[in-house]
Amino acid sequence: MNIVTITLLFFTITIPSTFSQPHNYTNFITPFETPQQQYYELTQQLPPNNIAPSCSINVLNHTFENTTNYVTVDYTPPSTTCEWSHAVLEFHAECIGQPIGHNIAGVWIEGVELLRTSMANPSDNETIFWNVRKDVTRYFSIITQNNLTLSVMLENLINEGVNYSVNVSFIFYSKFETSNLNRKLISYKDDRVNYDKLGLIREHQPADLIIPISTTIDEGCWFRIQDEFDVKMANVEISKRTYKAVLELYVSFHGDDEFWYMNPPDSYLKAYDLSNKKIKGPYREVLVTIDDKLVGIVTPYPVIYTNGINPLLWRPFVAIGAFDLPSYDIEFTPYLGFLLDNKKHSISFQVTNGVSYWLVSANLHMWLDHSNVQAFVEYTTPSMEIEDDYDFDGLDGEFEIEIERRTSTIGWIHSSLGILRTKVTEEMHFRNKLKFSEKGSRKQLEQKIKTKTRVKMTNEKDHLVRKTITEKLYPLNIDIVTGAEIGIGTPMMNTTVVQGRRESFSDEKASIKRVMNRNLNCSGSMLVNGDSIVSGSMENHQNYKYKDDINGHGCYSRKVDVVESVVVVDEASLICVH
Ligand SMILES: *[C@@H]1O[C@H](CO)[C@@H](O)[C@H](O)[C@H]1NC(C)=O
Ligand SMILES: *[C@@H]1O[C@H](CO)[C@@H](O)[C@H](O)[C@H]1NC(C)=O
Ligand SMILES: *[C@@H]1O[C@H](CO)[C@@H](O)[C@H](O)[C@H]1NC(C)=O
Ligand SMILES: *[C@@H]1O[C@H](CO)[C@@H](O)[C@H](O)[C@H]1NC(C)=O
Ligand SMILES: *[C@@H]1O[C@H](CO)[C@@H](O)[C@H](O)[C@H]1NC(C)=O
Ligand SMILES: *[C@@H]1O[C@H](CO)[C@@H](O)[C@H](O)[C@H]1NC(C)=O
Ligand SMILES: *[C@@H]1O[C@H](CO)[C@@H](O)[C@H](O)[C@H]1NC(C)=O
Ligand SMILES: *[C@@H]1O[C@H](CO)[C@@H](O)[C@H](O)[C@H]1NC(C)=O
Repeated sequence: MNIVTITLLFFTITIPSTFSQPHNYTNFITPFETPQQQYYELTQQLPPNNIAPSCSINVLNHTFENTTNYVTVDYTPPSTTCEWSHAVLEFHAECIGQPIGHNIAGVWIEGVELLRTSMANPSDNETIFWNVRKDVTRYFSIITQNNLTLSVMLENLINEGVNYSVNVSFIFYSKFETSNLNRKLISYKDDRVNYDKLGLIREHQPADLIIPISTTIDEGCWFRIQDEFDVKMANVEISKRTYKAVLELYVSFHGDDEFWYMNPPDSYLKAYDLSNKKIKGPYREVLVTIDDKLVGIVTPYPVIYTNGINPLLWRPFVAIGAFDLPSYDIEFTPYLGFLLDNKKHSISFQVTNGVSYWLVSANLHMWLDHSNVQAFVEYTTPSMEIEDDYDFDGLDGEFEIEIERRTSTIGWIHSSLGILRTKVTEEMHFRNKLKFSEKGSRKQLEQKIKTKTRVKMTNEKDHLVRKTITEKLYPLNIDIVTGAEIGIGTPMMNTTVVQGRRESFSDEKASIKRVMNRNLNCSGSMLVNGDSIVSGSMENHQNYKYKDDINGHGCYSRKVDVVESVVVVDEASLICVH
């Protein structure tokens, strides 16, 4: 058995190419104190204030018994007597040791994706479970409809028998009093401020209509992108009444590209005849086009899945986004000029430098006026600047690449709100530095992805109607040292992962400002023999901070320290730290 992803991540001559993801470790690690151990992702609590739900619906109970599989059920919305304003999706999974491999799952209703999640693996004879809770209020127009089909796909990336029992429920709350505590950076409560007189009250409210840009369930609703030339597309025709649109993209990376950011350039591989495989270096982006015109570029957050790099690190607190992979919003409003003509248009996805394989699916959120809308776009092709510096000698070397992307588009919308001009500018800066030393047995990554997106909307009189700024900073440092083998094929591997996710959103006109700051610092060592870890140790330190400036309210922070799988510190606070 050989998992290619790991082979690439750890490829050096000191590790046999048959090295595979170890999964067996109960023989040495501190056993969990309870027979059923819960796994967690450190994130916002939902609901933020422990209020009782108005109602809930258990939609699905299912045991996935073997490999890649999907299940579909009928989705029924809550009864009309249930009063609610916020909806939470709960994905509960349980697994009795030991499924092997990397498992990814998705939840869709009629092809509209609500959740992308990676699945944790227990070791021998362990039972683990976890609950993922996600605010799905933005899917209002879908979850209020009758007669829809909900589907769950679970993909096991190496064909081994696997039993996961999964329950999916929707829980509805009448009010999150403190909805500004919401984990999502944009919530739907604050719109009353300043927008009423402009008729833009619905600015931060859920869309009227969401259409899936996905495929059929029998292979998962996601598109499977195999390489950089693989273009996946869907033809859509959208309502002429659309005055605002956002494309929400879900993406995950697997197989040879699970650790895309650790890939040295192909010239390194070629020079030392390590492989004739193309791994295309460490830069990836998902490109979104409308009729072949590039309209969206997403540099994905490098989510480390539940057993990535060193599975011991994530017992029982998984890495950032592992249970709730981020989705990415692309402001489509300026591009409505391409779409509002009652004709079909192709929306397509591609992965720059992509290596097998990527799973992509998207939702087009649309806000409708009461009559037809006219739209015009002044399109500028996004720019790209690349600077790289590769320097290697023997197996050691330093590879540095910096990429800058700039997008700027203007669109005019003539609707019942008058003529509004929307200008969207986005700047993305990517920097990746890989260093291989100690004859290739040590690999260090320093990576930073930074994006700043500005949306500025003005009316006919050139008065500012809306100005939002979204900033994202994704730092990731990884250090992997492979020691000498203690016996054939049993190297000691020491790993450190330091990762962050900082996101801020501000809307000047509405006086909204939200900041989320997530950090982790984990280190561990493992002695590997075949597919077993024969000894090891770990430390996992994480924190989460959320701050909302409306009225100085709305803060949440939590800090967790785990040593040898035992949670030694777990502190939460609702107090704002300035
Ligand atoms: C799922 O299982 C629970 C507990 O056994 C049960 O109450 C519920 O009705 C089941 N739901 C479905 C959709 O089968
Ligand atoms: C999940 O579904 C199973 C049946 O498949 C049921 O036994 C269990 O009680 C359910 N758990 C929850 C939390 O609903
Ligand atoms: C699981 O699926 C694989 C591939 O489809 C098949 O070869 C194997 O026999 C199945 N195992 C079980 C226990 O059903
Ligand atoms: C798991 O349980 C089986 C049966 O009880 C036992 O033979 C095996 O040694 C156990 N494995 C570990 C790693 O404890
Ligand atoms: C659901 O669809 C069926 C068959 O298409 C139809 O008879 C039924 O009225 C629909 N139910 C609702 C609540 O719309
Ligand atoms: C998975 O479930 C099937 C059916 O319930 C059972 O026969 C099989 O033994 C289970 N496999 C494991 C590894 O628990
Ligand atoms: C790995 O970590 C262990 C324990 O912390 C240490 O004894 C060992 O020297 C380290 N090995 C390498 C290659 O750094
Ligand atoms: C991570 O933790 C180690 C000690 O556990 C500390 O030395 C190091 O400075 C931390 N790194 C960051 C970036 O916080």
